[in-house]
Parts: sequence; C-alpha cells; structure tokens
Amino acid sequence: MSIYTITWGAQTRWEIWVSGSKNAALPLIASTLLFETAELTNVPDISDVHLMKDILESLGSKVTFEKNTFTIDNAHLNITNLRQELFKKARATYYLIPPLLSRFGEVSLTYPGGCSIGKRPIDGIVKGLEKLGYASNQIDELLSFHGQSHADDTSVNAYFSVGSTIVLILAALGRTGTTTIELAAYEPHVMNVIELLREAGADIALRYDHTIIIKSTTLKKHLTGKVISDYIVSGTLAIIGALTAEEYIDIHDARIGDLTAFLTSIEKMWVRFEKKDDTLRVYRAKNLTAAHIQTNIYPGFPTDLQSPTAILMSQADGVSRIHEILFEGRLNWLVELEKMRGHIALMNPHEAMIFGKTALRGTKVSSWDLRSGAAMLIAGMIASGTTELDNVSHIERGYENFVERLQGIWAKIEKQN
Ligand code: EPU
Repeated sequence: MSIYTITWGAQTRWEIWVSGSKNAALPLIASTLLFETAELTNVPDISDVHLMKDILESLGSKVTFEKNTFTIDNAHLNITNLRQELFKKARATYYLIPPLLSRFGEVSLTYPGGCSIGKRPIDGIVKGLEKLGYASNQIDELLSFHGQSHADDTSVNAYFSVGSTIVLILAALGRTGTTTIELAAYEPHVMNVIELLREAGADIALRYDHTIIIKSTTLKKHLTGKVISDYIVSGTLAIIGALTAEEYIDIHDARIGDLTAFLTSIEKMWVRFEKKDDTLRVYRAKNLTAAHIQTNIYPGFPTDLQSPTAILMSQADGVSRIHEILFEGRLNWLVELEKMRGHIALMNPHEAMIFGKTALRGTKVSSWDLRSGAAMLIAGMIASGTTELDNVSHIERGYENFVERLQGIWAKIEKQN
C-alpha cells in the first residue's frame, strides 16, 4: 500500500496546469468501441484510464496511450477474452455496456465498483437499457445483458444521473428508433461526450429542460477530439492555493465557467481570486469566514468538491455546514479530519458541521475515496508536524501525477511504496 508523507513545505512555483477530466475521459474511451478507430487528446494519465485500456486490450483493441493521447484501433475485436472481472474496479466501466451490446449482442461483467461514497445502485441504468429492449440478468456479482434494442421511438428517464445519461446516450446511438432521454444530467463532462459524438456524426439535440433527443444516424468510422480539463481538479487546486500559496497561484485551463457555484461559495468565505481568460488566480486567504454549502447537480455546487471545501471550512472562523444531497455516505471520511484535530459534527448521513478555525496536527490518516483522499492531502499540507496518508491509490484513480504536480509548486510531499 502506498503512503504519502507530507511535512511543512513552502511554495516554489506560482502556476499550475489542470489535467484532463477523468469523468469525461472514461466515457469517451468507452465510446471509442462504437468506431473503427479513434484518437482522444488531453486524456489524464490516471489509473482508471489504464483500467479501461486493460479491458479494451482484452477485447483485442490495439491501444496506445502516450503523452495524454489515447489511440485505438478496433479492427479485430472478440468478446471471448473480455476480462469481465476488471469491471468491478471502477464504476465508470458501465459505460462499456452499450457499445459491447451493439457490437456483440451480449455482455457479462462483474458489478461495477468505484469509490465507496454510499449506496451506488445502477438500477436506473439497468431499467433504462431494459426499456430500450435489452434483457438483463444478475447472479451474485455477475451482471449480464443480451438481445437487441427494439426499433420504436422510446423515452427513458435518467433522473439527473451522470452515469445513466451517458449510458443511455451510448445505447441510443446503436438504435434505429429515436431515443428521448428525460431529466438528463448536463454536467460539463456529459457535454464533452456529446460534443465529440456529434462531431463524429451523431444526431443529438439538447432541450433547455434537460431532455436529450437522439435520432438514428450512421456514425463516421473515426472518433477524434479533446477531453476537457477537469473542473474538479481545478477547484481542488483553488483550495490548495487559498490555503498554502505564499501570495497567489495561477491555475491554467481552469474551466472557470463550470465553477460558478463553487467560486461563489468560496468568495463568500473571503477567498479572493481573479479571472483572466481561463486562468484563475487565487490569492492566499486571510480571515476566512464560515459558510453553508449544499451540493447539487450541475450547475450547482459539485459533490466532488465537497470534501476539499471541508478543509477550507476547518480554517474559517465560525460554524460551517455541509449539506450533501447526492450521496449518503460521502461525509463519513470527516472522521479522518477529526484525527488531525478537526472539529466536526456529523449530524446525519447527509449533513455535517465544521467548527473553525482549528489548528490541524499531522498524524496517520487514510484516504477513504478519491476526493476525500485529495482533501486529506490538503489537510496534511496545512497541518503542523508530519502527516502519513495511506490508501493513496484512491487519489491516483483521478488526479494525474498529483504528488509530482504538487511537489512542483510546493515542496515536502513524498511517496513511499
Ligand atoms: N443513482 C441511482 N441509480 C443509478 C444511477 C445513479 O440510484 O442507476 C444515484 C446514485 O446512487 C447517486 C445519484 O443517483 O445518488 C447520482 O449518481 P450519478 O449517476 O450522477 O453519479 P455517478 O455516475 O455514479 C458520477 C461521477 C462521480 C460524481 C457523480 C456526481 C463518474 C465516473 N463518476 O458518478 O464522480 O460524484 O457523477 O456528479 O463520472 C468522482 O469523480 O470522485 C466521483 C465519484
């Protein structure tokens, strides 16, 4: 198990570039299976991308992944050797289901896993695929789908779920009838997927009321395009800047337009920043004040920035409150912050209070999931003494070379394997 050792450091550089979005890259990689060849750029070099690569290679795809460019040639696919056991290693593997169904008419996989942030059912995805005509079956951990989509025009509901929306878009592309997805998620990564699929010939229309209409069309043979930069990484870096910069930090490719709810909240906490093109300059915060945040679907406050924001709150005067409405297990990691002398009250599975300001003290702590792992890394950066953070493979699932990048702007983080 890898551990990060974090001791007190000092800022050594003033700027940092945001890497590609995990939650856009993973469905885009899955959608390459709908094409003969594909080339995606700005793909983050993270373990979840390598997992998808391993699965695709087990199908016979020829994949190269160098310098953030992912190329794929699907000339010789065969489902017989599919490494179905790999699916349980990440939730996003469910994006592979529709392309595999349209290519092979069947797929069996272990139940998709992912970060442990509460109940994470995929009932909506299964029901959506069934409504489009596919049959499903689950025996213990093994989930299978087979059959063909029917040809009728059909409406399905995604209940604002990112996963359901993208799975249903990918399923709709292999159909003859028109597919209408109601209550679709409009997160930036969903838009990135739609944009690239449209450029590759897909007929996808978006309505103001979160309805996506996909008409049958013939796709081009090649998919190409750029993965957007990651607004969650950008927000995480903004908090690092506010808490640790000597004076300020410039965050390039920050996706400022996607961060309005987050930036409005931290501004209320008295974090000062400036926007220029897509560079966000965040100043070292002084006199932070408590706030109340409620996570929501986009464009609300992103649930994935809830945990880094909790560290900011621990340094703010007064009582802050987090209301996490999407996931009911996503506040439990705060017990780790308590080990560092954070003052926390978990009110119920969806609400927590953070009393500030507290001087955090380094100790041995754990990453519970990707985002709270990053939050604990930030806590270690501002704590006195040494912090030993274990289970850091969670962080490496979604933040590209995070330690190396942070070492580039801020000294004193070491990784031991
Ligand atoms: N849900 C269901 N049934 C389903 C699908 C979802 O009940 O079939 C529920 C979920 O349990 C959750 C809510 O609907 O309570 C929202 O889930 P959603 O499908 O939107 O989330 P997801 O697809 O599981 C993605 C990201 C998460 C991010 C959420 C919310 C990927 C691979 N994961 O998850 O990212 O928190 O959207 O924006 O895109 C992360 O990056 O750290 C991460 C957890």
